[in-house]
Amino acid sequence: MDEKQLRIQELKKEKDAVILAHYYMTGDVQAVADYVGDSFYLSRIAQQVKAKTIVMCGVRFMGESAKILNPEKTVLLPAANADCPMAHMATVKRIEEVRAQYDDLAVVCYVNSTAELKMHSDVCVTSANAMKIVKALPNKNIFFIPDENLGRHVAAQLPEKNFIYNDGCCPVHAFLTAEDVTAARSTHPGALVLVHPECRPEVTALADYAGSTAGIIQYAGASDAKEFIIGTEHGVLYELEKENPDKTFYPLHEDQICPNMKRVTLDKVIDVMESGVPFIKMDAETIQKAQAPLEKMLELS
Ligand code: 13P
Ligand code: SF4
Repeated sequence: MDEKQLRIQELKKEKDAVILAHYYMTGDVQAVADYVGDSFYLSRIAQQVKAKTIVMCGVRFMGESAKILNPEKTVLLPAANADCPMAHMATVKRIEEVRAQYDDLAVVCYVNSTAELKMHSDVCVTSANAMKIVKALPNKNIFFIPDENLGRHVAAQLPEKNFIYNDGCCPVHAFLTAEDVTAARSTHPGALVLVHPECRPEVTALADYAGSTAGIIQYAGASDAKEFIIGTEHGVLYELEKENPDKTFYPLHEDQICPNMKRVTLDKVIDVMESGVPFIKMDAETIQKAQAPLEKMLELS
């Protein structure tokens, strides 16, 4: 263990803190975390940990979800400006307009969203459970926010539902194109293409598998194939390579890097644990109203 890693271990004990990290963190941050996972796993774990303080190595909506599910705990966010642009790509005004148009509507909110959007939604989902949860809803009409690509991916598997889309997207995944897939397949002819459903429909259509971060990791681990082209954020390659030393992973595009996730560094983890700032601050009404759709997600998945 190097000096920074040792300091973090000391701080965990001193502050009764636990570190949660998304797979999109750099490898050194994943290595110091107590729990590493996708958005769904992190929400689940945030609800179960006993420590007084949660250090959320990820973007703001992840810290907010942890706080909403654990209002009594301190949730530290190492990089205060690590924010997901997609989280802001829907509006309460649009939710109200769509609600006024349909009697039988469920507003389904991808967790990659602000607490304000969650407050006005019926249920949250992640990419790992969206299909299962939407299927289980009694409503025929589904307003899926904020990600249009994930909405279309889920809708394609549930023809019995009527989806209304919102035009948000993840800039990192939506940047990947069908031409990138064709080019990567010709460079690595034997490789399977695994992509995240935040990618455009024309990209997921060309893939061998489209699924959540954890789904991609599971698929690659279980597959007999030896080479994979990975169409999601670069950080996932750390776990894939660690768990599958006999397999080779190529990024679909060298620029598939989320600049917000990458704002979290080991130095910032140390700083936030030493100083206790920045932490997630939310008023009681927001916590209470945003809790219901998140808890419904955990119950239905
Ligand atoms: P998952 O963790 O649900 O795979 O989502 C990916 C993502 O973009 C998180 O910001
Ligand atoms: Fe947001 Fe996309 Fe970055 Fe995830 S990868 S935090 S969805 S911008």
